[in-house]
Amino acid sequence: MAGELNAWSEIVRRRFDAFLEPRWRDAWPTSFVAPMRYPVFGGGKRVRPLLAVAACESVGGRMDLAMPAAAAVELVHTYSLVHDDMPCMDNDDMRRGRPTVHKAFDEGTALLVGDALLTDAFAILAEADVPAETRVAWVLELSRAAGWRGMVGGQVADVTLGSTIKDIDTLQRVHALKTGALIRAAVLMGGMAGDASDAQRAILSEYGAKVGLAFQLADDVLDADQDDKPNGPPSYVKLLGVPETRRRARAVADEAIAAVKKLPFPKTLIELANYTVQRDV
Ligand code: IPE
Ligand code: IPE
Ligand code: MG
Repeated sequence: MAGELNAWSEIVRRRFDAFLEPRWRDAWPTSFVAPMRYPVFGGGKRVRPLLAVAACESVGGRMDLAMPAAAAVELVHTYSLVHDDMPCMDNDDMRRGRPTVHKAFDEGTALLVGDALLTDAFAILAEADVPAETRVAWVLELSRAAGWRGMVGGQVADVTLGSTIKDIDTLQRVHALKTGALIRAAVLMGGMAGDASDAQRAILSEYGAKVGLAFQLADDVLDADQDDKPNGPPSYVKLLGVPETRRRARAVADEAIAAVKKLPFPKTLIELANYTVQRDV
């Protein structure tokens, strides 16, 4: 991450962690506190919270206004990874360089941690100190992006179609749901926190969808080696090769950047779009 973006990101990450830190302190049974905290404070890059805050600031909103939206989207993302890693899904033992939740604890616990994080995301939105109208708009946006019209729908397509996908349009559709929907929701919900106008929301929605696609293209390049097995996941690299996937990632990120130039303070969103395709993890 480039210098200025890095400094800003560290501030957002710290405030973000401080926002969630006290949340599960009084959970009962007390043995559930550690498993719930484990994936939330487990070394995620916090891309979605950064996008939510940057979107809020791009229309003149304060960072803190976007925190509930940032936290809710990140909790849905976190739950999706906890369940995705379970033996009935991808059966992965490691994530972010350490054991997955069902390995560090057990399968029943991993299932319940996911359930708890997903439901708490909506509690955080409903509890937020923002106008009721914003809370309802957030809940609608996140429930669509998380569920069968969004991330869950993408996971279903991934599980059922998986390696049989041979055309770019189908793959793009799967990825738009699986990864793109939550990224777009993070951007749009951040904009809503900053009271974005309808025209600004349309711009943020376009930016979010494009950055989501760019993020997934970059991810496919980063995961090219590990995905390269007969029953491995469908990926752009398998269909297009590394150079063309990289070229497309850059092109879509540039389209996202062009879209947000019309907003009052687009600088961080532009830097984040660049980071999305230049990152090495
Ligand atoms: C990983 O997402 C899974 C995808 C949806 C591609 P991230 O790369 O944002 O994961 P963390 O939260 O930083 O580990
Ligand atoms: C996980 O997708 C992302 C979601 C849960 C939506 P993948 O299975 O492709 O990503 P990794 O490799 O586990 O991070
Ligand atoms: Mg997986």
